[in-house]
This record gives sequence, C-alpha cells and structure tokens, in this order.
Amino acid sequence: MTNLANTVALVTGGLRGIGLACAEGLASRGAKVWIADLKPEGDAEVGEALSAIGNGAAYLRLDVADEQSWIDAVARISDADGRLDILVNNAGIDGTGRIQDMDFSLWRKVQAVNSDGAFLATKHCYALLEKSGKDRKGGSSIVNISSIMGFVAFPESSAYVASKGAIRLFTKAAALEFATYGAPIRVNSVHPGFVQTPLLDEGFNRMVERGVAEKAEDLKAQVAGSTPVNRLADVEEIANAVAFLASTEASYMTGSEVVVDGGYLAR
Ligand SMILES: NC(=O)c1ccc[n+]([C@@H]2O[C@H](COP(=O)([O-])OP(=O)(O)OC[C@H]3O[C@@H](n4cnc5c(N)ncnc54)[C@H](O)[C@@H]3O)[C@@H](O)[C@H]2O)c1
Repeated sequence: MTNLANTVALVTGGLRGIGLACAEGLASRGAKVWIADLKPEGDAEVGEALSAIGNGAAYLRLDVADEQSWIDAVARISDADGRLDILVNNAGIDGTGRIQDMDFSLWRKVQAVNSDGAFLATKHCYALLEKSGKDRKGGSSIVNISSIMGFVAFPESSAYVASKGAIRLFTKAAALEFATYGAPIRVNSVHPGFVQTPLLDEGFNRMVERGVAEKAEDLKAQVAGSTPVNRLADVEEIANAVAFLASTEASYMTGSEVVVDGGYLAR
C-alpha cells in the first residue's frame, strides 16, 4: 500500500460517495485529510464522516463554486497545518435534460460546480501546494475527478458531459503550465465509469420521474449491462486510483488520464 505519512490532503465533496471513499483511502495510508462539503460544520453527517475517515480528519464548509469560500478554506488549512500535499477536486453535480428544454441557470450551475470549482481550487491552493511539493519526489498532487463522460457523450447529459470534458483538458493545461514553469505540482484526472453512489441513484430516480424507465433498478441493470465487466464500480475502486496518483509512486505522472471504468471506453 502507498505511504502518505506526513502529508495533508483536501478532498472536496468528501461527505459521501466517491469523495468520502477517497478521504478514507488517503487517511488509511497516513494522510491528515480535510474534507470540504456543503453541510454546516455541526451537522451529524459531518461527525459520522470524520469518525469514518479517522487519522485526525477535519471538516470545512465550502462551496467549490464560491471564490471567497476558497480563500477562507486555504487560510484555515494554512493556519492549522501549514501545508497541502494532495488536492482532490471531486465535488460534482448532475444536471440532466434535453438541450431545448434546459434552463440556462442549470447549465451554468453544472459548469460552476464541476468546472469552475476545479479552477478556483487550483488557483487558491497553488501557493500551499507549491511550497509543500518542494520536499516530495514528483511534488504535490492534484487529482481531478472527471468521468468517462469527459470522453464520450450521452443523450440528455449535455451540461454534465461538457463540464467533464472541460475538467479533462483543464487538467492537462495546469499540468503543462506547472511543469513548464518548474512548479512542483503534478495534475492528473481520473475517469470513473458507473459507480454505485447517491449521485447515480438520484440521477436514475429523476429519469424515472421523467418517464424514461419504470424503475431505477432497471436503469441500474441497463448501465451495468452496458459495462464490459457487467457491474457498477465500488467507490473504493475509484479511491484506490486516486491514492496512487496522490502518492510518490506516481511521481512521473502528470497530465495523465486514469480511466477506471470496467472496460467501458475500450469498446
Ligand atoms: N457516481 C458515478 O457514477 C460517477 C461517475 C463518474 C464520475 N463521477 C464524479 O465523481 C464525483 C463524485 O460523485 P459521487 O457519485 O460520489 O456524487 P455524490 O453526489 O454522491 O457526492 C458528491 C458530494 O459533493 C458535494 N457537493 C456538491 N456540490 C458541491 C459544492 N458546490 N461544493 C462542495 N461540495 C459539493 C455533495 O454535497 C456530495 O457530498 C463527481 O465529480 C462526479 O461527477 C461520478
């Protein structure tokens, strides 16, 4: 198992799903993990997540699409720990519907969280990541959670697909820029296929409400069946790839796309 002792990590959208699994995976390898999400600090869900993560994990209320939230968050991590070695830009939202019926506000919201959020995170965490990266082989690590939908499109998913394509190429732009100017920060993207999380369940439920299928279970069976390994991913299977990219074992990897999709894109 990779060793992340003496590192500090921040995982956005860390209260549930893939983000929580990433936080647990990083903490179990020795990292002190901050999770950031929308719930207020005293919320019961926050306490449960922090106990599950362990290793001195801490919580920040942060809306990734809000610049002031980022300025405050970075100041808090800097005061408490003085360093940041790993940033996982995981927070994301869905937003389905046909293009001609979609409110522009929904389109903008999906871009704001999924795409602007990664830009704001990278901009405001840069100084701490750069400082911490100087004493780690390969430097600090940013992992951006994109999707197979950063490569291929699906009907009624235009806002989401566009946001995931944006984060895929933003990853490469940041990786190249940091390497070119000698900043010790690696930047890579992870592209999950269909993963069993609340986001997926909520998306299926909305499709049932719109009459796309009778039951969410039918849709789940359909996407599992469309995946070569014939099942959805567990959150830990995504978190393992993230932990690897975060570690010095991936010290020569930057600007890469790590696809974790049960063979979906191989067809
Ligand atoms: N579940 C899948 O099948 C799948 C597949 C590919 C990619 N992804 C991506 O993985 C990431 C995590 O997805 P998930 O399925 O675990 O989702 P989820 O909805 O289960 O969890 C997402 C978390 O992000 C938080 N969040 C949402 N908006 C936020 C904001 N503005 N600021 C801070 N936190 C915010 C939510 O409160 C939630 O805790 C997303 O970027 C998603 O697009 C998921």
